[in-house]
Amino acid sequence: MIPYAKQSVGAEEIAAAREVLESDYLTTGPQIAAFEEEVADYCGAEHAVAVCNGTAALHLASAALLKSGEKVLTTPNTFLATANSILYAGARPLFVDIAEDGNIDLELCEAALEKDSSIKALYAVHFSGKPVNQEKLARIKERFAITILEDCAHSIGAECGGIKAGSCVHSDASIFSFHPVKHITTGEGGMVTTNDAALAERIRMLRNHGMVKSPEMKPWEYEMRELGFNYRISDIHCAIGRAQLKKLDRFIARRRELARRYDEAFADYELLKPLYPYTPESSYHLYVVSVDFARAAVTKEELFIKMRERGIGLQLHYIPIYRQPYYRRLGYGETQLPMTERYYEGCFSLPLYPDLSDEEQDFVIEKTKELLG
Ligand SMILES: Cc1ncc(COP(=O)(O)O)c(C=O)c1O
Repeated sequence: MIPYAKQSVGAEEIAAAREVLESDYLTTGPQIAAFEEEVADYCGAEHAVAVCNGTAALHLASAALLKSGEKVLTTPNTFLATANSILYAGARPLFVDIAEDGNIDLELCEAALEKDSSIKALYAVHFSGKPVNQEKLARIKERFAITILEDCAHSIGAECGGIKAGSCVHSDASIFSFHPVKHITTGEGGMVTTNDAALAERIRMLRNHGMVKSPEMKPWEYEMRELGFNYRISDIHCAIGRAQLKKLDRFIARRRELARRYDEAFADYELLKPLYPYTPESSYHLYVVSVDFARAAVTKEELFIKMRERGIGLQLHYIPIYRQPYYRRLGYGETQLPMTERYYEGCFSLPLYPDLSDEEQDFVIEKTKELLG
């Protein structure tokens, strides 16, 4: 089976995990701070807080950044966790339509902010690995002084105009996911990055039950200052993450190479277009294509089934969040954003991961063309 995504884990990760297992600390040990420092360095952010998954990173960032009842602009074209984290904080997502590249349309965000001064925040996702335009993000931050979170679950290693994803140059915080389908994995894992020391400290506290210990306290004392969680990540996970981080640039180079090969293979093929033409700004978590199913020999459903029969896994990123039953019950049922709907009709992701060989990719290309006609 050629899946749409797959981790690339080798002897280095196994050795790193083993070393921790043979050490004194399985959790709350030295690997966590080391992993945090290395990711912060890699992204160019001042602080990083590692947690047990990307959703926990979003939850803690939202708990620290948002207030109950606040309105938050976000994209419907993302994994559920982005919007859910706004709900966890008691705030309200306002879904904004997407642009041609699948990212939230920042012009529409500006228009919404001009009309409604009660909007307090923007959660932008660098969808598929292509960052949202950082100049536009900077303009929004400057004009409206709102809170901005960048969901970088797809975009570690990506860059826009020299600004690295996760560096938080024009945002308050960024988050990452280290799920196995992502660029680097810890099995499950996540991280918040920020340049705000107080925010990092608060997220650190919320990660561990809202609890604080300090040298002034008696040796047995601890103080719970807020209602926090156990969102800690273990040293085993972080050691694996550190081994993965050493390979990240190589992984991204191969992802870009594969994206370029897909682009070339479909260059003269009218039925299928890449979501956006090759750009080295994207770190290519996903390779998304847009198909004219009205002219294709198969429907989208038939394509997914027939590709699976041929051993190829496709995936659709994403069903618009406002279509989900839970969100319909919250009153989003009437939402119909034209670009998002058009995207959902025609777009899906082809297999992309560092260990995908040229031969496997050629097989995917051949079968896709054969079935679409
Ligand atoms: C854009 C986005 N944000 C957040 C998450 C949540 O990350 P995790 O699965 O590590 O909780 C994901 C995971 O798929 C994602 O794609």
